[in-house]
Amino acid sequence: MENILEITHLKKHYGPNKAVEDVSFSVGKGEMVAIIGPSGAGKSTILRCINRMIEPNAGSILFNGYDMAKIKKEKELRTARRQIGMIFQQFNLVYRLSVFQNVMHGRLGYMNTWNGMIGNYTEEDKKKALEILDRIGMREMIYKRASELSGGQKQRVGIARALMQDPLLLLCDEPIASLDPSSSKIIMDLIYQMTREKNIACIVNLHQVDVAMRYASRIIGIHKGIIVFNDEPSKLTDNMIELIYGTSIDQLSMNRNQEVMAHA
Ligand SMILES: Nc1ncnc2c1ncn2[C@@H]1O[C@H](COP(=O)(O)OP(=O)(O)OP(=O)(O)O)[C@@H](O)[C@H]1O
Ligand SMILES: [Mg+2]
Repeated sequence: MENILEITHLKKHYGPNKAVEDVSFSVGKGEMVAIIGPSGAGKSTILRCINRMIEPNAGSILFNGYDMAKIKKEKELRTARRQIGMIFQQFNLVYRLSVFQNVMHGRLGYMNTWNGMIGNYTEEDKKKALEILDRIGMREMIYKRASELSGGQKQRVGIARALMQDPLLLLCDEPIASLDPSSSKIIMDLIYQMTREKNIACIVNLHQVDVAMRYASRIIGIHKGIIVFNDEPSKLTDNMIELIYGTSIDQLSMNRNQEVMAHA
């Protein structure tokens, strides 16, 4: 499989905090990879380095002909970034705007500033947005304000916005951490189906090992800024899970039960 992303010796420290110590991995075109690891392991930091929301200290991040770690010019960064979609735990929508306007924002990276500012989208883009909204079951809600949506609906808009970018790579940082179990399943199914359909590579940070096992074709386990596991889900043993999380399985399943109870 040809790679869409190649990360080599990525390092990001925050002062004395060694958030990401030495991380190397690749993602194939259209591949679905889950990153798991305890809180503070460096999962979000890795994703933020990939689309250069933060600047790494060292290493290279090759994506689609660019080294995301080394781009200096703002214009080049904008071009490189437009084919990297992002999905966040807190959705990051513009809440005073409609569903449709939020989805159209996915096209901003392709437009000049003026057209973007006055919302001068092409007919083709509008048609595309309607198709995607239809596909994710949000067609009826296009005029609703984003603030009026449920969490699951907000995340569907987040997915639609990311798909409008025609991404080659989709980065999802805890996409279901703020959702109840039934919305979580809808969102994971949508992320899975849409990326499979359009052959989009996807990296998803997850807290739930069982979700990672169900959807990903490969799992990367991070412990204190280092990769300790990088293999297919069937190879992820209980011992390995304990190593990744630095705690016993019993302790982990207790946390899981508490999460379930909190949602009940
Ligand atoms: N802006 C920042 N300034 C200083 N330290 C930071 C910053 N962002 C993250 N850190 C630290 O870097 C480490 C890695 O954080 P990161 O958010 O990447 O972890 P994570 O694996 O995503 O955790 P979680 O599962 O809780 O989301 C943590 O110790 C965190 O406190
Ligand atoms: Mg995080």
